[in-house]
Amino acid sequence: MEQIFDDLIELYLREKVGISENFLTKQLSSDLRDNLLRLSEENKLKDAQIGSGDDKVQNSLIRKDKIFWLDRAHSNAAENAFLDLMDSFVVFLNTTCFAGIKSYEFHYALYEKGSFYKKHLDQFKENGNRQFTSIFYLNEVWKQGDGGELRVYLQDTCKDISPLQGKMVFFKSSELEHEVLQTQIQRMSITGWLKND
Ligand code: OGA
Ligand code: NI
Repeated sequence: MEQIFDDLIELYLREKVGISENFLTKQLSSDLRDNLLRLSEENKLKDAQIGSGDDKVQNSLIRKDKIFWLDRAHSNAAENAFLDLMDSFVVFLNTTCFAGIKSYEFHYALYEKGSFYKKHLDQFKENGNRQFTSIFYLNEVWKQGDGGELRVYLQDTCKDISPLQGKMVFFKSSELEHEVLQTQIQRMSITGWLKND
């Protein structure tokens, strides 16, 4: 994994967005996708909200995904394997980049056909604890025209990233504006934040 972490961070430092095509193995991403679909069938997913604390509101004009937070207390093998990988990624970041990451949070996200998430920053105004955003895609197939790309806004351009299985995207939460374009197919992912508190 060290090489994968290293390449990701190098790309992040150079371009403000790190992309790794095979961060998760096929096995792990399919197991996580199966979890997500099972949670959806069991009606465990909740409408995602915007803001934090008392300002939390559900606004389907801004985002229309459904989410479920990962937790070791679920004793789910795939979830734990994913969190183990995140633990080693955090150690790597803290030792090679002195990133000062102390905690993290991750949720599954399901975007049904027609869903989107308008342009935003991931850091809340009143709380700056989210340092880095990381997103992991779980769709086994995705083709041009399926929509649901992650659009990231760079200096003078923007870049569309296809949400394909195994891929991980990494950027600084307070800096990079981004959006999820309307998807034409069911879109599955895990999104999370590395935090300094
Ligand atoms: C988010 C987000 C992007 C994506 O959940 O904050 O921007 O590609 N997700 O799923
Ligand atoms: Ni975001």
